[in-house]
Amino acid sequence: MKKEKVLVTSALPYANGPIHLGHLSGAYLPADIYVRYKRLNEDDVIYICGSDEHGVAITITAEKEKISPNEVIDRYHKANLQAFEKFGMSFDIYSRTSILEHHKTAQEFFTDFYKRNLLTEKKTLQFYDSKAEMFLPDRYVEGTCPRCGNEEARSDECEKCGALYEPSELKNPKSKVTGTTPIMKETSHWYFPLGKYQERLEDYVNEHKQKYSWKENVLQYCNGWFKEGLKDRAVTRDLDWGVKVPLETATGKVLYVWFEAVLGYISATKKLGEQRGNPDLWKDYWQNEESKYIAFIGKDNIVFHTIIFPAMLLAWNDGNSDKYILPQNIPANEFLNFEGKKFSKSRGWGIDVDEFLKMFPADSLRYTLAANLPENKDTDFYWKEFQARNNNELADILGNFVNRTFVFANKHFEGIVPKTENLQQIDIEMLNLISKAPEKIAELIENFHIKDAVLEMMNLARLANKYFNDSEPWKTIKINKQICANTINVSLQTIYTLATILEPVIPFSAEKMFKMLNTEKTNWLDSGKSIVKTGTKLNSPEILFTKIEDKTIEELIAKLPSNLVEEEKEIPISIDEFEKVKLKTARILEAERIKKSDKLLKLQVLIGSEKRQIVAGIGKSYSPEELIGKNIVVVANLKPAKLFGEESKGMLLAVEDSEGKLALVGIPDNVNPGTSVH
Ligand code: 2FM
Ligand code: ZN
Repeated sequence: MKKEKVLVTSALPYANGPIHLGHLSGAYLPADIYVRYKRLNEDDVIYICGSDEHGVAITITAEKEKISPNEVIDRYHKANLQAFEKFGMSFDIYSRTSILEHHKTAQEFFTDFYKRNLLTEKKTLQFYDSKAEMFLPDRYVEGTCPRCGNEEARSDECEKCGALYEPSELKNPKSKVTGTTPIMKETSHWYFPLGKYQERLEDYVNEHKQKYSWKENVLQYCNGWFKEGLKDRAVTRDLDWGVKVPLETATGKVLYVWFEAVLGYISATKKLGEQRGNPDLWKDYWQNEESKYIAFIGKDNIVFHTIIFPAMLLAWNDGNSDKYILPQNIPANEFLNFEGKKFSKSRGWGIDVDEFLKMFPADSLRYTLAANLPENKDTDFYWKEFQARNNNELADILGNFVNRTFVFANKHFEGIVPKTENLQQIDIEMLNLISKAPEKIAELIENFHIKDAVLEMMNLARLANKYFNDSEPWKTIKINKQICANTINVSLQTIYTLATILEPVIPFSAEKMFKMLNTEKTNWLDSGKSIVKTGTKLNSPEILFTKIEDKTIEELIAKLPSNLVEEEKEIPISIDEFEKVKLKTARILEAERIKKSDKLLKLQVLIGSEKRQIVAGIGKSYSPEELIGKNIVVVANLKPAKLFGEESKGMLLAVEDSEGKLALVGIPDNVNPGTSVH
């Protein structure tokens, strides 16, 4: 197979807090598995990451902790690097965006765009905190998302629906510095003409989605953006902390953190070259048509990697002879939740990597996360599942198979790999399985089906255990030692294959397995070809996995904040209680918007012969006109309430999709209003 040149990046985490399991599942572990596999496959791969050290996220943390931004980034850069190392991340470099090389790279892009008249200076009104006497960029302001109504939206970006908008569009803004309502004050910023690249970006996405099977979730985000139409984006901010805008007139302004953070991948690669005494190394990966670039991220970073970064690279390429490659694939993952809820540092929900690894080995965590990656939908980390995967899969299947084989080899063959002779059908079948597994798993990893790959790996260990059982070496040793020798030899070959294919997932244990086999690592595909030589003196076996006690897990569950657990619990009710709720059909007669609310509609509905007023929060999903005449389901006996000064007698039923859009629960047209719903 042709060896590939591959550039791999993982999203640069903000150096403003510890890494938690959710981060690992999103952008780090899958990338590390991919990269480790690529290395074993003898591809020419470099793996780039580092800390994102600018932006308001950092300055807010600094203010909260009453330390300087520099202290914040130093603390978390170091802590995160250590946590990643303990977790077995195999970055070629873990750089940071505070280095000079990065500032230079980011300024070089800005200057190039500026000189080529790509950027437009625009005067805009911006949030200004009169009490703190400062402009309030991005996250210094919180308010209601103009698209989905999320009340914790940032000034220019909503985490809930993924919308990006101009700060002036945010509703009910509040300054995070003083809590006051900010005023709008004039300032000027530089805008990048994203809209100009729309057609080329659409072509880029369409070509790549077919050729490289881009993930559905990634495409959905892109299409949403394209549909809305790409607009000019401000690439500067009024802030002290960050990469200074390289213009004399731009004092007090820095580059927008996202404009420079994505360039952090490039500056980190430059740094790697510098460390390796090859200053041009970065060009070999970034400016080489033979190289392919894979960007691993979590779903909240999709637009920056599929649209904004590629647009910046296209813009550079249009005016320069040294041309960058664009990402070939961006296998963004969904989110990992913790015991059914979002990770939340402030509410103590979740666990940091560092804390986790003080209690349990990295491989147990890596395996559990890898077997449950949020590749297509959000998944959860549950302590009980972690215990089960560790005990029932790693210890009982893999660990047990390895241990039994070594015990036998030591007891009956003096710890020396016995030679095979006259293999039986069962042995041939096992050898056949290990010869095919690497290729099959490679294909899954190449296509970023990492979870399925992990399933296959453990499946091979399961079949190996079965092979050992079915071969009954404890019987054959007494009847025909050669048959037993065959079993042990084939089992050792299988352990070697397992060590290789599992290395990307459980590197620490794989290393122990290679050591026990006293055999060097070879390449991925050859690992199924009976590599362990007859006559090799095996090293003494080590325990690979220790079981986790029920008590340990129960204690960890007991430590979870109980108020949050309660919130999630479903409280069972009796039929009698449910019967108290009177659900009835109704027909909407009139509908109008309530002033000052973009969410609430005032409806007049008919329930039987009674006309009633209901105030419903469906104004973002329906226009008043389209509601008239609709048959719906309402809770008819709800206590009356007042909303925005309007009386509401009842509540209607609707379902909410993942985007926050509501759809009324409908009923057939021929049902009369006022009919009971059971
Ligand atoms: O979401 C985040 O944590 C960002 N710091 C990711 C940046 S990715 C790239 F642009 F550097
Ligand atoms: Zn929103």
